[in-house]
Amino acid sequence: VAELVVALDLPTGKEALQLVDRLPGLGWAKVGPVLFVAEGPTVVRELTRRGIAVFLDLKWHDIPSTVGHAVSAARDLGVSLATVHCLGGSAMLTAAAKAAGDMALVGVTVLTSHDGPGLTEVLGTSGDVGTQVERLARLAQQSGLRGVVGSGQEVRRLRSLLGPAAWIVVPGIRAPGDEAGDQARTVSPADAVKSGASHVVVGRPITAAADPANAYRTFQDAMGYNLRP
Ligand code: C5P
Repeated sequence: VAELVVALDLPTGKEALQLVDRLPGLGWAKVGPVLFVAEGPTVVRELTRRGIAVFLDLKWHDIPSTVGHAVSAARDLGVSLATVHCLGGSAMLTAAAKAAGDMALVGVTVLTSHDGPGLTEVLGTSGDVGTQVERLARLAQQSGLRGVVGSGQEVRRLRSLLGPAAWIVVPGIRAPGDEAGDQARTVSPADAVKSGASHVVVGRPITAAADPANAYRTFQDAMGYNLRP
């Protein structure tokens, strides 16, 4: 069964922790750049102290030694899962994987904000998004990463490409009837799990719900949590 990760995209640590207090049994939380720049490691420590596994989503892309040191710092902080950009290349990915120890690291392949023309613009040569996603996912795996971040559209192909042990972290999840917001290609929690997601990331459908605890439980049910041993 996949893990349900709640994206704490809130402006302050106080609001993030107040939300967490409304989600009894929360197992995983994602801390992104906005909350991390505002609050720093304090909010991560506070979450881990409460027994919540932290996904630190800062998508590092820098020279190998800098990324390696950032990864070590995250591991020392008690982070469970972090992200790097596959475009950093095999030297950077290998340095990151070495520094990670038993912290899981997954690679971002192509940002979902990139379409074909956007990708061609940055690559300088015409690029098919699906082909690049698969190429970079393979690079991530060969470099020792635990897996990749993938959209609902890609997850099935990524699962068959990377095999059963890889972590495939899937954001852009919407339950039937949820507002899509700025997410263009959404997938339901049940479909994400069926297609092979290991971690399902949900933000606003839970954080902005009138009753976040109820929304959290609904997502858990859709993912088959009630079937867990
Ligand atoms: O609120 P929502 O469920 O759209 O939040 C999804 C989370 O996943 C956000 O933190 C966002 O940064 C992240 N994400 C995403 N789509 C991607 C990659 C990351 O929504 N393609």
